[in-house]
Amino acid sequence: MGRLQKGILITFEGIDGSGKSTMAKRIAAHLGNDYDITLTTEPTLGWIGDVVRKSIVSDVNPLAELFLFVADHAEHVAKVIKPALDEGKIVISDRYSDSRYAYQGATLADRFANPIDWVKRIHAGWTIPPDLTFLLLVSPSVALKRCNARKKTTKFEDIEFMKKVQANYLKLADESPRRIVKIDAEKDLHTMEEEVMGKIREYIRTRI
Ligand code: TYD
Repeated sequence: MGRLQKGILITFEGIDGSGKSTMAKRIAAHLGNDYDITLTTEPTLGWIGDVVRKSIVSDVNPLAELFLFVADHAEHVAKVIKPALDEGKIVISDRYSDSRYAYQGATLADRFANPIDWVKRIHAGWTIPPDLTFLLLVSPSVALKRCNARKKTTKFEDIEFMKKVQANYLKLADESPRRIVKIDAEKDLHTMEEEVMGKIREYIRTRI
């Protein structure tokens, strides 16, 4: 069993239908052979996560919705992320703070001059930033086709909205090129998996 001095936080991000949940699960299974893994998700499976899921399918004020997502994140960081990292685990989160910066950066675009920075600022001082983030990139039209095929729809599955979210994600990646690794998610699963595992191994080598 590999030993780490302190845990590592790896997050998976992308627009709806980008395939990040499948990839997060597969990577967790791979790493599970050598390390202690915590696989988790945002929105969480707790009661605050349930409220968030309710808001996603409701006509709620975008600012109120942001704070629900942020409340869910605060609980997630305190009860799941921090304890697991303190135990030296590798934590894999299917969505994390970049989802807020990209999605709520889009829903709040007409409220603030720089919505991404505004959303980032309310996380400052208490969130735990990821060590490594994989941004799965598919064109919004491909992503929308995948979403429609699985018939689990949210109000965010709209092509124009998805384009805005994708643009926000790309902006975040440009700002943090060392942390955020862009993955072409239209490639086959196996190739993507190799690419992601390669980057993770490379990162782990720098940490032990
Ligand atoms: P998720 O359950 O990950 O959906 P999917 O598996 O389809 O990607 O997330 C639900 C929706 O909530 C998704 O459309 C993304 C959105 N979301 C935000 O808008 N902000 C956030 O902070 C998070 C975590 C998710």
